[in-house]
Amino acid sequence: MGIAIAVGVQVMAGRLLGLGVGPGDPELLTLKALRLLKAAPVIAFPCLGDSPSFARAIVSDYLSGDQREIAINVPLGGHGGTDAAYTSAAAEIATALDGGDDVAVLCEGDAFLYGSFMYLWSRLSDRYGCEIVPGVSSLLAGPARLARPLAAGNDIVTILPAPLDDAVLAARLADADSAVIMKLGRHLPRIHRLLARLGLEGRSHYIERATLPNEICQPLNALGPAPAPYFSMIVVGRREDAPR
Ligand SMILES: C[S@@+](CC[C@H](N)C(=O)[O-])C[C@H]1O[C@@H](n2cnc3c(N)ncnc32)[C@H](O)[C@@H]1O
Repeated sequence: MGIAIAVGVQVMAGRLLGLGVGPGDPELLTLKALRLLKAAPVIAFPCLGDSPSFARAIVSDYLSGDQREIAINVPLGGHGGTDAAYTSAAAEIATALDGGDDVAVLCEGDAFLYGSFMYLWSRLSDRYGCEIVPGVSSLLAGPARLARPLAAGNDIVTILPAPLDDAVLAARLADADSAVIMKLGRHLPRIHRLLARLGLEGRSHYIERATLPNEICQPLNALGPAPAPYFSMIVVGRREDAPR
C-alpha cells in the first residue's frame, strides 16, 4: 500500500481506520474499536453544521488528549459544500497518512450503514491500507431498546430512508415483514400519516436517541405531530401472521 518518501528515508504510510462507535452509549463501543482508537495518533470525525461531533462525544471518555484531531465540518443541506468538505478532509487525512500516522475516523453506529466514512474511504482506499471495524448500528439498537424482535425465521427486514417519496416507501412497505425507517427528522409527520394510511401505525414504534440517557421510545400512535430530531427512527414490527 502507500509508501511516503521523507528526505531520503522511506516511511510506511499510516492506515485509514473506519471505527464504528455505536449508537450513543459509550459501552457499546467494541473492544477492537477501543484498542485501535487509543493507539491512533490522529482521529477524525464529522461535525454537522455548527453542532459538536456526536461520534466524538460517544468516545470522549476514552481520549487521552494527546491525539491530533481533524474535525470535518459538513455543511447542512448538502449541495456542493458536502463534497468539498470531504475532499478537503481527505487531503488533510492523506497528509497524516503519508507521514506514517494511522488515522481513526469515528463513525456513529456502523461505518458502512449510511456512514459518512464512506465518502473518505472512496477517496483514499485505493492509495492507503484500510481497516473497517463494524459498529453497533442504530438499526439494531432501536429494536433492542424497544424490546421488540426485528426478524425471525425467514423474515426479510426492509431498511428505508425517510426522505424517499411516499409512493416508493408504500411499495416497499406493502410486503415488508418488518421495517426500519431511518433519517426521520422533518419527515416524521409525513411518514406517520403514510403508516396510518397503510394500516401499519399499530405495528410501529418511534425511538429517538436510542441508548442515550435522554432516549425516548413510544408506540407511534401515542406520538404528537411534531418533527423529530435527526437521531430518530421508526421500527415497523413483525407482521402478526409471521411464523413465530
Ligand atoms: C446517516 S444515518 C447513520 C446511521 C449509522 N451509521 C448507524 O449505523 O446507525 C443517521 C440515521 O441513523 C439513525 N440513528 C442513528 N443513531 C441513532 C440513535 N441513537 N437513535 C435513533 N436513531 C439513530 C437515525 O435515523 C439517523 O437519522
